[in-house]
Amino acid sequence: MNKLQAKNISMSFASAQHTVDVLADISLVLDEGQSIAIIGSSGCGKTTLLQILAGLETPSVGKVFFNDINLSANNKTQFTQLRSSLFGFVYQFHYLLEDLTIFENCELTFQILQSKDRAANHQSILAIFEELGISHLKDHYPFMLSGGERQRAAIARAVAHKPTFLLMDEPTGNLDNENAAIIQELTINLSKKLNMGIIVATHDLDYAKQLDDVYKIENTKLHRIDNE
Ligand SMILES: Nc1ncnc2c1ncn2[C@@H]1O[C@H](COP(=O)(O)OP(=O)(O)OP(=O)(O)O)[C@@H](O)[C@H]1O
Ligand SMILES: [Mg+2]
Repeated sequence: MNKLQAKNISMSFASAQHTVDVLADISLVLDEGQSIAIIGSSGCGKTTLLQILAGLETPSVGKVFFNDINLSANNKTQFTQLRSSLFGFVYQFHYLLEDLTIFENCELTFQILQSKDRAANHQSILAIFEELGISHLKDHYPFMLSGGERQRAAIARAVAHKPTFLLMDEPTGNLDNENAAIIQELTINLSKKLNMGIIVATHDLDYAKQLDDVYKIENTKLHRIDNE
C-alpha cells in the first residue's frame, strides 16, 4: 500500500530579529485511501505542514517519504514530475486561470505530466466533471461560475489525473454552509472512489469529524484527537 510519511519534522522561520519555531518533531503517516483533518488555531502551522508534506517547502529538520523515496531531498526539481503525479492541491482560493475554460484548466495538469493520450485525458476530465456535477459548465470561464462551482472546478483540476494524495488547505473557507457541505461530501466520496489519501487543513470541525482521523497542531506539536 502506498503511504506518505513525515518523520520527525521541525520547522522554524528565521528573521533578522528572531526565530519562530512553528513545528517541532512532528511525525505522521497517511495511507492510500485514508482521510485526515489537521485543525488548530490560525497561525499554528497547518499550511506549513501541508507544504512540507508535498515537498514544496523543506523542513528545518526531518524528512518526508513517499514509500521509500525521500521527497525532502535537496534536489527539488528531481521530484517535480513525481510530485505532480502524486499530489493534487486545493486551496481556499481556487487559483483557476481566468483566461482558460475550466476544461482547459484541467488539461494543464496533463500537459505538466507530459501525458500525451489526449482522448484518455479528456475522458478523465469529463468523468470527474460528471462526478462533481459540473459537466454543463465545462466550456465556461472561471468568472462565469459561482463560488461553489469554482471550488468544484478546482477539485476537478486537482484530481483529474488521479493523484495518490489530495492535499486541501481550507477548501471550504470561502463558501457558505450549503456549498461547504457539498464540497465536504464530494471530497469524501472521491477519496473513497479513487482510493485517494486526503489531508484537509480546516477550521471546519463538522468537516473534520467526517474524516478517518483528526489531528490538532498546538504549541508546535501534533496531537491525534478523538473525533467520535
Ligand atoms: N515563509 C515564512 N516566513 C516566515 N514565517 C512564516 C512563513 N510561513 C509561515 N510563517 C509563520 O509560521 C506560522 C504558521 O503559519 P501557517 O500559514 O502554517 O499557519 P496556519 O495554521 O495555516 O494558519 P491559518 O489557519 O491562518 O491559515 C505563522 O506564524 C506564520 O507567520
Ligand atoms: Mg493556513
